[in-house]
Amino acid sequence: MTVLTDSYGRRIKSMRLSITDRCNFRCVYCMPAEGLPWLPKADILTYEELARVARVAVGMGVEQLRLTGGEPLVRRDVPELVRMLHAIPGLRSLSLTTNGTRLPQLAAPLAAAGLTRINVSLDTLIPHKFFQLTRRDALDSVLAGLAALEAFPQITPIKVNAVAMRGFTEDEVLAFAALARRKPYVIRWIEFMPLDADGIWRKEDILTGAEILAIIEAQYGPMVRITGGDAAETARRYRFPDGVGEVGFINPVSEPFCATCDRIRLTAEGGLRTCLFSHEETDLRATLRDGGSDDDLAAAIRAAVWHKELKHHINDGQFTRTQRSMSMIGG
Ligand code: GTP
Ligand code: 5AD
Ligand code: SF4
Repeated sequence: MTVLTDSYGRRIKSMRLSITDRCNFRCVYCMPAEGLPWLPKADILTYEELARVARVAVGMGVEQLRLTGGEPLVRRDVPELVRMLHAIPGLRSLSLTTNGTRLPQLAAPLAAAGLTRINVSLDTLIPHKFFQLTRRDALDSVLAGLAALEAFPQITPIKVNAVAMRGFTEDEVLAFAALARRKPYVIRWIEFMPLDADGIWRKEDILTGAEILAIIEAQYGPMVRITGGDAAETARRYRFPDGVGEVGFINPVSEPFCATCDRIRLTAEGGLRTCLFSHEETDLRATLRDGGSDDDLAAAIRAAVWHKELKHHINDGQFTRTQRSMSMIGG
C-alpha cells in the first residue's frame, strides 16, 4: 500500500465523514435561524456508500474516522453505521462530534457498536445564553447526554468543545475550567472561524486561546503544557498545576496548525474536501454511483489529496469564504 500523501509531504491519517447536513440546533456561528435548505435523502450517501469510501481510505493509510454533521445523531440508526465502520480492518480510532442532545438514548448503543472517542459541543453552561447561542432550549439534554457517557469507559476521552467568542465566552472560562477539574472531561476552546452561514464573523470577535489561558492562569497559576501527543493534534493541551484535569486550546486563527494537518473531509453528499476552507471538492458520489471500482475511488482520493491546500488564508488579505458553512462541512 502506498500511503496517502499530499504534494507538501503531509500524510493523511484522518477522515471526517459528515453523515447529514441537518441539525436540531441553529447555532449563530454556524446556521441561520430558519435553517438551510436540507439535502434530499437521495443525495446523501447511504451507510453502505460511506462504509465503502471509509474502507478504501483506511486501505490507503487513514487510521482515524470521525462522524460529524450537521448533527450526526439526528440521522437514523447511527449505531448501525458505527458497527459497519468498526469492522474495517486497520482502523485505529472511531469517533463522533455531536451536540449531545441525543446521547441520553444513544450513548449505550454507540458504545456497544464500537465508538471509541467522542467530542460534545457545549459553549455555555448558562441556560439563557445557551438559548441565545443555539436558539434552542436544550442545555439540560446536553448535560444529561454528557452524564450518560460517563457510564461507558470504553468511550474515552470525553472532549467538550466550546467555540470561543469575545464578549460571550470570557465570563464562563473559569466555570468550564472548574468542570474540567470536577469531571472526566477535556474542555477545549475553539477560535471562532469564518464558517457561519449568516456572515456575522468578524476578526474582532475572536477570543484567542492565549487570552483564555491567561484567565485560567490568573486563577490557578501557571498551567503545565502537555507535549508529546500526535503531531497532527489540533489542540494545545494543558494540565492544572496540581494535576487534576486537562484543558486545551484549538487556535486555528491565532496559531494555525495547517503545516501538520493530516485531515480530509467528506460532505454528506459525498464531496471530498481537503481543507475546511476548500473552494473545490471531488465528487466521490459520482464515482460510487456510476459503477466505479474501489481502485477508481482510491485514484480519485489520491488525486484530490495531492492538491490539498497548503494552508488557510484567514489571516491574509486574500481570504475568501467557502460557499459552505460549518454544518455543510462537519467541522
Ligand atoms: P481530536 O483531537 O482527535 O478529538 O480531534 P479534533 O481536534 O479534530 O476534534 P474536533 O473534531 O472536535 O475538532 C474540533 C474543531 O477544531 C473542529 O470543529 C474545527 O472547528 C477545528 N478543526 C479541526 N480540524 C481543523 C482543521 O483542519 N482546520 C481548522 N482550521 N480547524 C480545524
Ligand atoms: N468556528 C469555529 N468552530 C465552529 N463550530 C461550528 N461553527 C464554528 C465556527 N464558525 C464548531 C462546533 C462544533 C464543531 C463541529 O465545530 O461548535 O464543536
Ligand atoms: Fe448544529 Fe453544530 Fe451547526 Fe450548532 S454548530 S447549528 S450544533 S451543526
